[in-house]
Amino acid sequence: MKIMDKEMKINYTLFADKSELNSVEQKLYEQAKKVREQAYAPYSNFFVGCSVLLKNGEIIVGNNQENAVFPAGTCAEQVALNWTSANFPNEQIEKIFIVGAPKDLEKHIEPVPPCGTCRQVISEHEDRQQHNIEVYFASITGEIYKVNSVKTMLPFTFGKELL
Ligand code: THU
Repeated sequence: MKIMDKEMKINYTLFADKSELNSVEQKLYEQAKKVREQAYAPYSNFFVGCSVLLKNGEIIVGNNQENAVFPAGTCAEQVALNWTSANFPNEQIEKIFIVGAPKDLEKHIEPVPPCGTCRQVISEHEDRQQHNIEVYFASITGEIYKVNSVKTMLPFTFGKELL
């Protein structure tokens, strides 16, 4: 017997380009874009850069690091967040910016959202610090999506309270 049908709504903001962001956010966008160019992605040729803003103003960056044994590769978000966690275990994460695009098709690509595993990783950081993290994902050429919490992008979230 069916109990109910329900819809979930997603709240997000779409900026036409980075000029609509404040100066710190513009810096985050630029740093994610810049570090993307140093990604090690010879297998997918898909380059992703990520920047993380901490409450103390520090910015941490990361990019995807692939491996000939494909599952041993790591996404940009996880490189940046794991480094943050290792070096600033008690500092609150305020924002995360993601810029991804194929190496050679930069003009044609849409903003790239974080993959499912990265959403789960960001969610763990939110739970750990008991504070939301604003997630921004952008194209190389400018359009930028923003959600106020990764939970928006990860309905029916699995968290430690379920263990
Ligand atoms: N990738 C990321 O770095 N972050 C994501 O959220 C999506 C995917 C990387 C993993 C792999 O190196 C390449 O992009 C293609 O999937």
